[in-house]
Amino acid sequence: MKNIKDQVDLSNKKILLRLDLNVPLKNGIITDQTRIDKILPIIDFLLKKKSKIIVVSHVGRPKGKIKKDLSLKPICENLEKKINQKIKLIEKDIFKLKKDDLFSDFKEQIVFLENIRFYEEEEKNDLNFSKHLAKFADLFVNDAFSCSHRAHASVSKITEFLPSFAGLQLETEINALKKVTSEIKNPISCIIGGSKISTKIGMIKNLIPKFDNIIIVGGMANNILSFKGNQIGKSIKEDNCESIIDDIFKTAQNHSCSIIFPEDVMVGKSMEDKAQIKELDELKNDDFILDIGPKTINKIKDIIENSKTVLWNGPAGYFENPNFAIGSHEIAKMIIQKNKKNLIYSVAGGGDTIALLNQMNAINDFNFVSTAGGAFLEYLEGKELPGIKALN
Ligand code: 3PG
Repeated sequence: MKNIKDQVDLSNKKILLRLDLNVPLKNGIITDQTRIDKILPIIDFLLKKKSKIIVVSHVGRPKGKIKKDLSLKPICENLEKKINQKIKLIEKDIFKLKKDDLFSDFKEQIVFLENIRFYEEEEKNDLNFSKHLAKFADLFVNDAFSCSHRAHASVSKITEFLPSFAGLQLETEINALKKVTSEIKNPISCIIGGSKISTKIGMIKNLIPKFDNIIIVGGMANNILSFKGNQIGKSIKEDNCESIIDDIFKTAQNHSCSIIFPEDVMVGKSMEDKAQIKELDELKNDDFILDIGPKTINKIKDIIENSKTVLWNGPAGYFENPNFAIGSHEIAKMIIQKNKKNLIYSVAGGGDTIALLNQMNAINDFNFVSTAGGAFLEYLEGKELPGIKALN
């Protein structure tokens, strides 16, 4: 894999720079800026080299439709302030865009293309779309480790049409994860939560042989609870996962890996509600499970207490409402407490987990924090990520 930092002549070269600026947005306000901060080194590097930068990113999952609330505008404005430099957001239809439209003013050094997932061709890894994107630039740089598990046009296919390089952050993330996976100490526990059930549920089976404990919290835990015959009310759940879950438990048995899931929960009648602790047999049709309960928290704390390594991806509940942040906060506090005494090696990953740790001002209390969520788990599975494979 060639890294852009080893390229000598980048002056005036047009660089198509794939970033992951998929930051949490609430009413157009960025609620966690970590992913933007992490890409400042590559922007700074390319600006100093006098390159022309075409930033490509997605935010959210607009599924090929233009969605105003998923515009890159607030992110573009945020970066403008951070680097104190004007950035043009190009909203024109990419298919109607010509190379000369991009840097019409010779002083311009950075432009943003609008959310690349507004085009359905992106997620289809479409050849013609990639070819068209490639026409705008001389080189391609992937500095988006956190979406390199997606075989999408601006991550994967594009590399067939431009000389392609790894970015600075991508290399940092891969080196850190390589170190984690090669120097791991047992017992090792993995906590998987968050709301992206479809992305993660299929990965668990492959993770089982590598872990002593897999703790399932967040949205995916609802699928497990429902599979075990519990009522889960109106809680989020992925359909048709029964055979995957059946396989998870069978595989876990064969590998002596414990699968831990909630024994009690905190529910609300809406996301904005107050929390009510419930036993699993007390759930009502109109309840939303929004956090783990105290018995589950204690069980998880015991497991962390007896682990030498912990990897964490995805919060335990709807932490955006402080009433449902208790489970995630207690897990974080326990890991941090052990980490401070050097009794555990801890790695956290994913946009929401980072937002949670920032909320607690605890981002530096873990040994390593990856911007990647799904990509982090796929890397742990031992899979070659499509975006990395393409660079190789
Ligand atoms: C992430 O937040 O993990 C990446 O941006 C990928 O997003 P996706 O799960 O919507 O593909």
